[in-house]
Amino acid sequence: MRTRLCELLGIEHPIIQAGMGIVHPAHALVAAVSNAGGLGSLGATGRSPSELREQIALIRERTSRPFAVNFLVSNFDEETLAAALEARPAVISFALGDPGDLVRRAHAAGALVVHQVHTVAQATQAAGRGVDALIAQGGEAGGYGQFVGTLPLIPQVVDAVQPLPVAAAGGIGDGRGMAAALLLGAEGVNMGTRFLASAESPIADGWKRAIIAARSEDAVKVEFWNDITRSPTGRAGYGTVPRALRTPFHDRWAQRRAEVMQKVEELRNEIQAAQSEGRFHEYMPFAGQSAGLIHEVLPVREIIHRLISEAEETLRRASTLVAPIGVGREAG
Ligand SMILES: Cc1cc2nc3c(=O)[nH]c(=O)nc-3n(C[C@H](O)[C@H](O)[C@H](O)COP(=O)(O)O)c2cc1C
Repeated sequence: MRTRLCELLGIEHPIIQAGMGIVHPAHALVAAVSNAGGLGSLGATGRSPSELREQIALIRERTSRPFAVNFLVSNFDEETLAAALEARPAVISFALGDPGDLVRRAHAAGALVVHQVHTVAQATQAAGRGVDALIAQGGEAGGYGQFVGTLPLIPQVVDAVQPLPVAAAGGIGDGRGMAAALLLGAEGVNMGTRFLASAESPIADGWKRAIIAARSEDAVKVEFWNDITRSPTGRAGYGTVPRALRTPFHDRWAQRRAEVMQKVEELRNEIQAAQSEGRFHEYMPFAGQSAGLIHEVLPVREIIHRLISEAEETLRRASTLVAPIGVGREAG
């Protein structure tokens, strides 16, 4: 299965593994995705310049194929960006804000630019900035997102920015979802939650088990998280709110935002302590509604193989639903 996104990015399969800053160290995951023919992405958020350099070196030890380095426009470290530009990855991807002059800077470093959006207006603006491809992310997604669902968003973004290639994100957990995205006009997919629950993903086993056990309705928008992270508007970049699996921590605070605001420092310390003990997922196991479709932890190569064969099978089956042109018209 080849699309224009494959041609543009120099990849075999139109599958991007989402950059996920919180997932660290991600070198084995990124390299596994790129080696399996997709585009692995290294999340740069939260990384120091030396950590990023080290991660990129480890990826390059494992693969000579293209990969992306991902930044959040709303929250990035200028020195870490400089380290990424110096390393000249094939792709730099951005999310959560108008990419503005960052597009020119990434291009000047020889990288293609992929940018993630949640609305048609954001897509049009990013296209005007000169990005090479877009990720249109529906509100079903894990991590930070807005509210328009993937089904209405994809065709609208595709129409608005044509001929730019668009990858669909949010709620895609298997090959049927991938096939649906392609039928909506996307030329690929960007997936986070499915790759979180992979053998190569470095997240805690408890987080992976929670994804496997989750139903889609367990992946909820966590409004008060933006209060804790002290977003001045109560929303993160592009007006987003994160989606994660429900936890006792969520249930304790979700309806008590005023109290959360008074206890920000205390809650932050509690979360930081949990994070340093590898228990972050007990607080905020970021994941999307696609968790309901994920039933086992699999190696990346197997995930990609299943996605492609199931998407192809679904597309073949879909084509049998319509009569060939001309057939069945004689009677009239
Ligand atoms: C744990 C987690 C962390 C994420 N972090 C980032 C990030 O740092 N940068 C980014 O562009 N997107 C990030 N995302 C969003 C993904 O790019 C993607 O849109 C989303 O995972 C798609 O939905 P899905 O989880 O249903 O596949 C994150 C998603 C998850 C689940």
